[in-house]
Amino acid sequence: MRNLVETHGGPFGSASGRALLGHAIQGALLAPILILGAASASAQSTDAGAIVKESCATCHTQSGNSAAPPFPKLSGLAPDYLAKQMRDVASGKRSSDIMGPILDELSRGEINALAEYFARQPRTPGIVTRPDLVDEGERVYREGNKEAGVPACAGCHTPDGGGAPRFPMIAAQNADYVVQQLKQFRSGERSNDFGKLMRTVVSRLTDAEILAVAQYVASMPVPPSAR
Ligand code: HEC
Ligand code: HEC
Repeated sequence: MRNLVETHGGPFGSASGRALLGHAIQGALLAPILILGAASASAQSTDAGAIVKESCATCHTQSGNSAAPPFPKLSGLAPDYLAKQMRDVASGKRSSDIMGPILDELSRGEINALAEYFARQPRTPGIVTRPDLVDEGERVYREGNKEAGVPACAGCHTPDGGGAPRFPMIAAQNADYVVQQLKQFRSGERSNDFGKLMRTVVSRLTDAEILAVAQYVASMPVPPSAR
């Protein structure tokens, strides 16, 4: 929450942005009630699309291609990664004031169905807001920072950003969300990465490198697996 509101120049600095946030919070408060209804109505088969419509679309959109920069795109992510994040948020292992109460209400089966649903959605191209930072960001992504001991992002997230079984796809993700997550890994606020991999990588990244690499990530074409 705090990070969203503090996002400089982000949508929540403006009047319409605050209205959106208000709407989002209202959605978050209503969601558990709506999910309970959905769960009992679909005892035999989970209708993931209906749960998304009622409980997720306000922030993530029906296709998982969030329009608001601080909200992550879920489209095209691997089902295992999505399910892990949902379980981690529900259990509090990954803290999220916004999502915690929503995911807490979901069953294992619903979480898996939602993960499959979002994994199938084609990803939309990313939006670059600072084209002047893309070249510097590409350097960080492909080479890391040898002097500071930062490994290349490409080594785990793959050169096209499409990811691998244990490493999430990040190509065409919203830049503000990427910045927010890198800073949360750096401060330890997000600590659900196995083997402390991300926390170790970002511990030596500067703010400038974080902003730049996020712009490059947003500029990367949607990988074939997510089209
Ligand atoms: C009120 C806005 C809101 C609603 C509603 C919402 N989310 Fe989220 N979601 C977020 C935010 C913000 C994040 C980023 C984590 C954070 O900062 O809390 C997120 C993160 C996620 C992530 C992790 C993505 C990643 O790349 O690691 C998943 C998965 C997710 N949400 C699934 C869902 C599902 C499924 C629903 C509906 C059942 C839902 N969300 C409803 C705002 C929302
Ligand atoms: C040593 C392997 C490794 C390297 C190098 C690495 N990452 Fe990651 N990254 C991971 C893992 C593993 C996760 C998933 C953590 C989890 O399971 O929650 C992750 C998650 C992320 C996420 C969150 C994705 C989401 O959807 O929430 C972002 C953003 C990210 N990495 C960006 C980067 C950037 C930028 C770099 C380069 C500066 C980088 N990573 C380098 C392993 C790595």
